[in-house]
Amino acid sequence: MSQRYAIQPGQVPAPGARKLLEFDGKSLALFNVSGQFYAIDDSCPHQGASLCGGLLQGRVIQCCAHGLRFDLASGYLLNSTALKVGHYPVEVLEGQVFIVIDAEESVS
Ligand code: FES
Repeated sequence: MSQRYAIQPGQVPAPGARKLLEFDGKSLALFNVSGQFYAIDDSCPHQGASLCGGLLQGRVIQCCAHGLRFDLASGYLLNSTALKVGHYPVEVLEGQVFIVIDAEESVS
């Protein structure tokens, strides 16, 4: 079963921006790429650095620590399936943004 978390309007990033969000101890990075939202764990699967502050190019986020790049849409390392960061569906209903997290992934 999945849980939908409503994002408060002040926490929704503008196009080209990102926000670090906390859900019951879980840190997620929410990106707005030209109006398309992507949500990932704010923990690089390599050595755990924050991805929220990484370099964003299109829908690719580059980790500041060692430079690995991840596709925000799939969570996978670019051109590889060797590493994957947790990513979550984002829904927009009547202007309200929701992040959908599977119950097994939720720490609540
Ligand atoms: S911790 Fe992200 S690339 Fe090493």
